[in-house]
Amino acid sequence: MMKDRFPSDHTRVQQMKTADPNQGVWPSSLKLPTLSNADFKFFSKLIYDKAGIDIPLEKKSLMENRLGKRLLALKLTQFSQYKQLLQGDAVGKELVLFTNSLTTNKTEFFRESLHFSYLKDLLEKHASNRMITLWSAASSSGEEAYTMAMMCEELAKTVPLFDYRILGTDIDTQRLQMAERGIYDIEAIANIPSTFQHEYFEAEGVQEQKQVKIGKKLRQRLKFRHHNLVEYGDLIPLDFDIIFLRNVLFYFDAHTAQQIVAKLVSQLKPGGFLFIGLTEKLHKIDPQLTYVEASIYQKKV
Ligand SMILES: C[S@@+](CC[C@H](N)C(=O)[O-])C[C@H]1O[C@@H](n2cnc3c(N)ncnc32)[C@H](O)[C@@H]1O
Repeated sequence: MMKDRFPSDHTRVQQMKTADPNQGVWPSSLKLPTLSNADFKFFSKLIYDKAGIDIPLEKKSLMENRLGKRLLALKLTQFSQYKQLLQGDAVGKELVLFTNSLTTNKTEFFRESLHFSYLKDLLEKHASNRMITLWSAASSSGEEAYTMAMMCEELAKTVPLFDYRILGTDIDTQRLQMAERGIYDIEAIANIPSTFQHEYFEAEGVQEQKQVKIGKKLRQRLKFRHHNLVEYGDLIPLDFDIIFLRNVLFYFDAHTAQQIVAKLVSQLKPGGFLFIGLTEKLHKIDPQLTYVEASIYQKKV
């Protein structure tokens, strides 16, 4: 489990150590400063307090490399200077960028496609005349929420009265900006059905030739907003039929994960469904949930 928490960043580290300084990476002539255990403790406590993200000491070099980028951008030479800057960061501007640096954002369209087959069946079963609400609760750059939207749009073709709203949230402000822009490298859609590629993506408004943009149809009923899962008081003013909380629980310790799940369950309508990542598990199942099948739970009615 620990091993999977932060995937290896080896390639990025190599690039940071060798590429051009103007590209925002460490130049080969400069040595990446060493992160002392005391500074590591400070940064790991800060990210834990801010985002619930639990970074063990074994991941010190990963933190060193990720925060090294901030040092470079700020023209600092020591992690202790960065620590001082964060301590004096009264408005919290750098804290946002610090948090962005330490999140892991891997995602893709139709990731863990089993869930989307299940979602299709669920939507078909429940798509009567009422509106279905869906939440991608750690949406990263938006692929998960847009995939949900594609599934809903497909159903809307055969059930004209079917209506839906989708919310995508994340703590990482940069990923949210990407989600809102909805511009992706063309390779990102290579594995999705070609009918979907043509129907839901467009080349218009894209500057790079090798990019595509999410079309209007998918944006109409979908929005993104900033939301921190560990700010338990920050409730979304809407209850949901379906919540995806996938591939984010591994960041948290068991207690935090349990509190997050309890909070999300409180935002789920009775009979609603919670999806977690296929390789994740709930250490203790919330008393309001029943197990449906691996990684899928339903709120008791
Ligand atoms: C690995 S991505 C998962 C994306 C998507 N759910 C998927 O399965 O493809 C995990 C996301 O969780 C977000 N995250 C981490 N801690 C968070 C927190 N406390 N509140 C909200 N989002 C958080 C990260 O910024 C990151 O974008």
